[in-house]
Amino acid sequence: MTVLIDCINNKSVSSIPVWFMRQAGRYLPEFRDIRSKNKDFVKLCLNPELSKDITLQPLNRFNIDAAIIFSDILLIPFALGQQLRFEKNFGPILGELRSENIIDVKNDEITKKLQPVYNLLKFTSSDPKMKNKDLIGFIGATWTLLVYMLNQKSPKKNIEVDIFNYPHLDKLINKIIETQKIHIKKQIESGASIIQIFDSWAGLLEINKYNKYIYEPTKILVEYTKSLGKNVICFPRGIKNYKEYCKFVKPSAISIDYEVDPLEIAKNINIPIQGGMNPQILLTDKENLKKEAKRYLDIFKDHPYIFNLGHGILPETDPTMVDYLVKIVKDY
Ligand code: CP3
Repeated sequence: MTVLIDCINNKSVSSIPVWFMRQAGRYLPEFRDIRSKNKDFVKLCLNPELSKDITLQPLNRFNIDAAIIFSDILLIPFALGQQLRFEKNFGPILGELRSENIIDVKNDEITKKLQPVYNLLKFTSSDPKMKNKDLIGFIGATWTLLVYMLNQKSPKKNIEVDIFNYPHLDKLINKIIETQKIHIKKQIESGASIIQIFDSWAGLLEINKYNKYIYEPTKILVEYTKSLGKNVICFPRGIKNYKEYCKFVKPSAISIDYEVDPLEIAKNINIPIQGGMNPQILLTDKENLKKEAKRYLDIFKDHPYIFNLGHGILPETDPTMVDYLVKIVKDY
């Protein structure tokens, strides 16, 4: 078994497992090099040879325990027939949502469109560099996908559309969940050893709506992943009550954001914990980085803990700082 899976299973580990959200991408010159020659981001995600290279790039540099596939949560709306492109310095732009059409999309059509992602997983999981490492597959949570599909772009601080009065909402939610299950199953069959669910916009939902839009759909996906024999890590960024989330959703491990107090988490949550440190710390200096990393390591020293950040690595991060951070964790 790998250190990551041992940690999630509450077994003793020889060192603290570490990997980073958004480790494959923007801050690495070798990624930017490939990216500059591939202007169409969706096409790049659907090129298994190149996305395999990008997936392995952080492993070539750092002593980390897992690779996360180079892909995107928005490939689900894309596979459902919604147009998707990425604009430089703006982010994703989705086409108008025609839910009548989306609800009728056949499962075969979805897996056919996403086949390059499954090939990427096959190629990567069989690479010698992956020995004793985990390969993390992922999906966006139902709520976060709903936000992108209806808002048609990143919401920043608020959502510009009335999601809750959308005419075919329940049918749309069910279709998204069905597609997420297919995507989870195919990723696992193709070599993903762990699944992470990114609920990047959980923090935008009112608490009285958590049940229907976050807890219930995520619980279905967590149970489904577990039924396939794999662990599932959930990252409900900005959620107001991590303890309640864990009680309802029951993920194998919970990834925390940088706004939540790690002391509160250590006190109140007894499932394996991942992440927490503010990615901005990597933009400061080594002394400060060491101090802050040690703070998280100390707080979670008696807990199954996977070192990671409280959100993705920022594009302006110096890769040598990431390397230094990995050394701090591994020497702890
Ligand atoms: O973690 C990794 O390194 C693996 C690859 C990965 C990407 N996106 C590649 C990517 C993962 C896990 C994601 C998840 C993702 N995508 C999330 C959830 C995590 C989070 O950050 O909250 C979300 C919300 C998206 C949607 C998305 N994709 C946005 C909003 C953007 C534009 C802003 C940005 O982050 O750059 C993307 C583009 C994207 N996805 C890039 C990469 C490497 C940058 C593309 C570029 O080079 O222009």
